[in-house]
Amino acid sequence: MDFSEFNDRYQSDLTDCALETLAVRAGQVRTAECEHSEPIFLSSSYVFNSAAEAEARFTGEVKGNVYSRYTNPTVRTFEDRLAAMEGAEACVATASGMAAIYSTCVAHLEAGDHLICSSSVFGSTVKLFEAYLRKFNIEVDYADLLNPEDWKRKIKSNTKMLYLESPSNPLNDIADIRTLADIAHQASALLVVDNCFCTPILQQPLKFGADIVIHSATKYIDGQGRCLGGAAVGSHELIEPIVGVLRTAGPTMSPFNAWVFLKGLETLHLRMHAHSNNALYLARWLEQHPNVKRVNYCGLESHPSHDLAKLQQSNFGGVLSFEVIGEKKGAWHVIDSTRMISITANLGDAKTTITHPATTTHGRISEEARNKT
Ligand SMILES: Cc1ncc(COP(=O)(O)O)c(C=O)c1O
Repeated sequence: MDFSEFNDRYQSDLTDCALETLAVRAGQVRTAECEHSEPIFLSSSYVFNSAAEAEARFTGEVKGNVYSRYTNPTVRTFEDRLAAMEGAEACVATASGMAAIYSTCVAHLEAGDHLICSSSVFGSTVKLFEAYLRKFNIEVDYADLLNPEDWKRKIKSNTKMLYLESPSNPLNDIADIRTLADIAHQASALLVVDNCFCTPILQQPLKFGADIVIHSATKYIDGQGRCLGGAAVGSHELIEPIVGVLRTAGPTMSPFNAWVFLKGLETLHLRMHAHSNNALYLARWLEQHPNVKRVNYCGLESHPSHDLAKLQQSNFGGVLSFEVIGEKKGAWHVIDSTRMISITANLGDAKTTITHPATTTHGRISEEARNKT
C-alpha cells in the first residue's frame, strides 16, 4: 500500500491539534507495511537503485536516506514530533543532552566569541564551557539568572550567545525568558534555553522569544531511566548548522533510543502533571518539617520565583531541593536514611530519586560559585 497521500494529509491535519494529540501523532510516516505503531529502523545505511541515484542522494539533489549518521527514519519521527510539541520548525536529535549543548555551541560560536551563561546550570555544562570552549578561545562569563541587569552589564561587542536553564537546578529559580531574549536580540546574540526540567508540556521557551531549546531526553522524555539522548529545537535556519555538526562529527541519536523517546513523548503530558502534583505535595510536607531549613520548589507560594513560574509554565515540575539542619553531614544522613528512594544522579524517572548536588551533579562547580547561587 502507498501511504504517501495519507502521510501528507495526516501531518497537515495535525496543524491545529492539541499538544496531547501531537505527542501521539506528529511525525509519524506510515510505511507500506500498514503498521500502527512507529517502526524502529535499525539500519546503518540505505540502498540506492543505481550509481547515479547514489550520487544524487549524496549531493542532496534527490531527497532520501544515505547513512544513519545523516538521517534515520525513526530519529526523524522523534525530531518532527518534538519540534511540533515545542512549536518549532525544526529539531535535531543527539546522542545525549550534553551532545546537544556541545553541537549547538560548535555550530553557532567561533574563536573570539563571547558566551554568557547563567550561574545556575548543570555541572557538566559548566565543565564543557570552561574546559573545552575556552580551549578554542571562546570567552565565558556567568550572570545571575534572576537579575536581567547583570546579563545586560556583561554583554560585549563579541557576545554571541546567552545560555540558561529554567527552572534552575537545584534552586528552582525561574528566568524571565522574554526579558533575557530581548537583551540577547538587542546584542544580535542567541538565547539558548535548556528546557529539560519542564519539557514542552510545561513550558515552550520559543513562545517567550528563545531562539534554541535544548533537551536532555534522558530525563522526563524517556521517563523510565533507560536511554541517553538529547535534542536542539528551533528555526530551520538555526538548526541546520547543528545538523551539519552532527553529520560530520557524529554525536547522533540511535534509532532504538529515538523509538524509546517516541513512546515517552506519548505519555509525557500525563507524567509531567503527576510529577508536579507529587512534588508539590512533598514540598508542602517538607516545608512543615522542623529539621528542614529551606525548601526550593517554584510551586510553593513562598518561593521567590512562584509568580513568574505561573506565567511561563503550565505546572511546576517534578524536581525540588531542600536544606536540612546539619549541612553536608545532615544531608548525607537524610539520603542514607531513605528506603524506597534511589540514590542516583538521574531525574525524571518513574522511581523517585535523591542526590546531594554539591558532591555529585554540581560537584564540578567551585564552592564559591555554588554559594553565590
Ligand atoms: C538540565 C540538564 N541539562 C543537560 C543535562 C545533560 O544531559 P545528558 O545526561 O543527557 O547528557 C542534564 C543532565 O543531568 C541536565 O540536568
